[in-house]
Amino acid sequence: MPESDAARSELSMHALEDMLACVSALETVDDPWLQARGIRLRVLRLDRIHPQISGNKWFKLKDNLRAAQAAGEDTLLSFGGAWSNHLLALAEAGRLSGLRTIGVVRGEASASPSPVLQRCADAGMVLHHVSRSDYRRKHESAFISQLHDRFGRFHLIPEGGSNLDGVRGCADIVPLLGLDDRSVTVALACGTAATLAGMLLALPRSATALGISVLRGEDTLSPQVGHWLQALGQSDPCAWQIETRFHCGGYARSTPQLLDFISGFGRRTGIPLEPVYTGKLMLALYRLIEEGRWPCGSELIAVHTGGLSACEPLSSVSPQ
Ligand SMILES: Cc1ncc(COP(=O)(O)O)c(C=O)c1O
Repeated sequence: MPESDAARSELSMHALEDMLACVSALETVDDPWLQARGIRLRVLRLDRIHPQISGNKWFKLKDNLRAAQAAGEDTLLSFGGAWSNHLLALAEAGRLSGLRTIGVVRGEASASPSPVLQRCADAGMVLHHVSRSDYRRKHESAFISQLHDRFGRFHLIPEGGSNLDGVRGCADIVPLLGLDDRSVTVALACGTAATLAGMLLALPRSATALGISVLRGEDTLSPQVGHWLQALGQSDPCAWQIETRFHCGGYARSTPQLLDFISGFGRRTGIPLEPVYTGKLMLALYRLIEEGRWPCGSELIAVHTGGLSACEPLSSVSPQ
């Protein structure tokens, strides 16, 4: 990158950081159901930090953007589906920081792109559609070489921004929780669990972290969190656990109960949730409270990781 472009890009990174850092709202959930059980639940409203770079996305992207700049790259390339929060955030972060962005999109282009892809394109992202079978090759070096042949030099960010830079960046969510030495459970939804791993780098030992997996099946996330922590030298995190009972049918699937819960919760508290991540998180917390997981007087903080700007249509509603 020419020096003047690099300086401009560095400047806009600072402006972007300032803009995003100024919003850190911890909101108490005002719900008589919780009061009756003596539970104090607060929500870290990361969904409010920016309309497009919402929730955990900025934290996963920021060190990746820095790494690209440090390597003198002016182009970022990443992967996602037609409803990817991550591609939308990357497109906007690229636009604001003066970096070119390329989104490799799963599935053929359609005559009417999803509103998310339309917004990516409006932010200047180059969209490159690949077949589903090619998309599965996104970790293969031969496939990446083909992308280099086509697009030249770029800094590669994996799907969802879930690499070591993404994990490291999520440690910066922790100061926004305003924790002291009182015991508190910090809960968040997990897709790859990169956000959870990053927070475990910085959470104090007075906290307990609870990840709610949005994926169906065996817990493959806990070993991955272990790998990330080891790679980043965190050998002594606070207590943590991933719950696998609240996937509601699996990734981007739902149940009528989940949808009812989301609308009831929104009505009662004014806090919007979506069905892929944060709805499952909050439903899980309410179910666990009902099961008596925490005694009266307990404090919980749910991290609202965003996702409202690119709400994926549910692939099915399966009764459970
Ligand atoms: C809105 C939202 N919440 C939670 C997550 C889960 O994050 P992670 O993959 O780091 O577990 C994602 C995916 O990045 C997301 O888009």
